[in-house]
Amino acid sequence: TRRLVIAVDGPAAAGKGTLARRLAQALDLPYLDTGLLYRATGRRMIDAGLDPATAAAEEFAASVGLEDLSRTDLRVPEVDRAASLVASQAAVRRTLVDVQRRFAGAHGAVLDGRDIGTVIFPDATVKLFITASPYTRAVRRWEQMAPNPDVPDRAEQIARVEREIAARDAADSSRAVAPLRAAEDAVHIGTDHLSADEVLAEALRIVARMT
Ligand code: C5P
Repeated sequence: TRRLVIAVDGPAAAGKGTLARRLAQALDLPYLDTGLLYRATGRRMIDAGLDPATAAAEEFAASVGLEDLSRTDLRVPEVDRAASLVASQAAVRRTLVDVQRRFAGAHGAVLDGRDIGTVIFPDATVKLFITASPYTRAVRRWEQMAPNPDVPDRAEQIARVEREIAARDAADSSRAVAPLRAAEDAVHIGTDHLSADEVLAEALRIVARMT
């Protein structure tokens, strides 16, 4: 059988991770959340008391391995920001290319991120670009978060999450290296009005059509 590489890209909190994980399970392929590589790099810099925007990030990226990705402290707001800051550095991205390409190995994989279809696997078998409105994404992210006791109002909490997501998308889309964008041959799935099951079903139809 031929090597199946599936690229799942899109902005923050659009549902990439949920889809990619379930797609990998359905197709019996390994799954890599590539955002965790940037998160682990940013996390280590914070722990070392360093500014994630500085060039020291390259060294930290070089020492990140798959075993670092199971840390439980990678999905907190300060690491969201640190990941985006290290990810804007060309040297960091270059350092992390090999671990991502090797991950697909001989048998393929599902990978989610921002530049999988454009930079890491331009020849991926299937490229999906997952989108949702900023409000939908903010609500979904907010539902996964612990309630913020300082902000009692639900609408205000969601609005804050939406602003943070918008800031990260703006940084990820406007950076000079590997900006967030859909590959020309990506198939777009808008998830605003779809359940996770419906997104998976749609993705499986696209994969079946293209393989
Ligand atoms: O996907 P996630 O939100 O976990 O990614 C965290 C950050 O890592 C993103 O905001 C982005 O700056 C960066 N990233 C990237 N390229 C990828 C995956 C993530 O630049 N392939």
